[in-house]
Order: sequence, then C-alpha cells, then structure tokens
Amino acid sequence: TPETATIRLKVNGQERSLTLDTRTSLLDALREHLELTGSKKGCDHGQCGACTVLVNGRRINACLSLAVMHEGDEVTTIEGLGDPDHLHPMQAAFLEHDGFQCGYCTPGQICSAVGMLAESAPGVPSYVTADLAAAAALDDHEIRERMSGNICRCAAYPNIVAAIKQAGGLA
Ligand code: FES
Ligand code: FES
Repeated sequence: TPETATIRLKVNGQERSLTLDTRTSLLDALREHLELTGSKKGCDHGQCGACTVLVNGRRINACLSLAVMHEGDEVTTIEGLGDPDHLHPMQAAFLEHDGFQCGYCTPGQICSAVGMLAESAPGVPSYVTADLAAAAALDDHEIRERMSGNICRCAAYPNIVAAIKQAGGLA
C-alpha cells in the first residue's frame, strides 16, 4: 500500500490540510485534491511551464515538486492572483494585448511573469513597481530569455512580451 502523509499548505490565502500519497506532485495536489484546475498539466516533466505556480513568491514547475515538500508553504495559483472582478495587473495586460490564443499555457505564463518580475527586483515579494522593473532593464530579449521555460504552442510570444512589459511598467 502506498505511504500517505498529511500536509498543511496555505493556498491562495487559505489554510488547507491534505492527506496524500507521498508521491503526489504539487500539481496533482492542486488540481485533483483542491480542485484548482487553473494550473495546467502540459508535459508533467518540467518542459513546458504550463504548471507554473508561485511558492513563497517564487515561480516553480508544480509538476516537478512533490506536495509533501511544501509543508507550511504559501502557494499562489492563477485563481489566487485575481478574479474576473479584480484582475491582477498581469492578467489585465494579457487580456489587453491578446497574450493568448488557445489559453492553455496562459495561467503558467502569467504566474511565471509575476514571479519573473519579482526576481528582477529582489526583496519585492510578489509584485513589482514600475520603477523597480525599469531599473532591472528588462528588454524584450531579456524577458524572452527569462520566460523561456514557458512554452506557447500557439506562438503568442510577441503579445506575451508586450503584456509583460505593460504590467511591469516597461512599455
Ligand atoms: Fe509542468 Fe510541463 S506540466 S512543466
Ligand atoms: Fe495556446 Fe499558448 S495560447 S499554447
């Protein structure tokens, strides 16, 4: 019989307790146990970025991480960034710039972009101000490089970069 473990996570601001097979990925914990299906399963082995979520403010591929490694962590998924009435600035920018076609990669792209901007401004936990992002000199090439873990089969890349630049105050 598989080994199970009980873990506590803070997911999108809510304390959650889960008893799981210890082999469960963070992605499956979110999608199948918490019914947060915004995070997508593209490849399930770290090559597409569709599963990108923020853990303690840093972007990770949720398919590559076991849920049991995240005891006590704060996890933010696309559902926690914003909702239709209160879009996160990055979500609003993706809408405005048509940063998607089929949309399958989009939750991962948006979580990754938010994490990427935070990385470029160390010490800023979750989102970034225009001044800090501009100071980090994120040009198109640098944005594409830093977003290269997020594949878009529809090749919406120019629009994705335009959206990120707007949301980061770089446009
Ligand atoms: Fe995780 Fe592709 S599903 S990287
Ligand atoms: Fe279709 Fe990116 S919008 S995969």
